[in-house]
Amino acid sequence: MHKILILYYSRHGAVSLLAKEVAYGIETVEECEAVLRTVPPVSAVCEAVEPAIPEQGDIYASAQDLADCSGLVLGSPTRFGTIASPLKYFFDQAASEWLAGTLVDKPAGVFTSSSSMHGGQESTLLSMMLPLIHHGMIMVGIPYPGTPIGSTDTGGTPYGASHVNGPDNINPIDNDEKAASRILGRRVANCAVLIAKQPL
Ligand SMILES: Cc1cc2nc3c(=O)[nH]c(=O)nc-3n(C[C@H](O)[C@H](O)[C@H](O)COP(=O)(O)O)c2cc1C
Repeated sequence: MHKILILYYSRHGAVSLLAKEVAYGIETVEECEAVLRTVPPVSAVCEAVEPAIPEQGDIYASAQDLADCSGLVLGSPTRFGTIASPLKYFFDQAASEWLAGTLVDKPAGVFTSSSSMHGGQESTLLSMMLPLIHHGMIMVGIPYPGTPIGSTDTGGTPYGASHVNGPDNINPIDNDEKAASRILGRRVANCAVLIAKQPL
């Protein structure tokens, strides 16, 4: 089985819901298993330490998860138009994996949730790709044909899946956003299977 890592951060739950849709898409691909991992929040107090295992939800990602995966889907809330710091912090600690080439030639996709429609989803998705490209990953987007990308009036972009959570952060994930998330997961998983059969 190929493990496809869904590495995400979610403060209020929207990105976590998208992660489950991505997982659904991954698991439609035979030979692929979705592995959900999160990261702890970063603290302004440098001595503060999170418990090794979170009290609820998915467990924290480790360097071993990066080594074990055949593909990665990264999910972050939009934070001032860019990636959330807990995920940036995780990658800032992944220099050993970068040196070892742990993620080289593995496929990757990205997804996000924002409050507002024009609040920076695309810039966030693009910013999330940067560390993945430095790690040598192959970015996978969402094509227009056969997907809701060209017709959605909520989330869903060619750069990755997304959700518009609304000013009160209570919008449900709509059908286009669900479909885009599942398509992204499936495409990353399919690419991982193909690359395993024919390494680049
Ligand atoms: C510090 C901070 C910055 C944010 N910046 C943006 C932003 O630039 N654009 C936007 O539309 N929403 C922004 N938001 C709202 C979040 O992106 C939105 O609530 C998202 O759905 C949260 O995902 P979560 O429920 O998984 O935590 C921001 C929220 C916080 C706390």
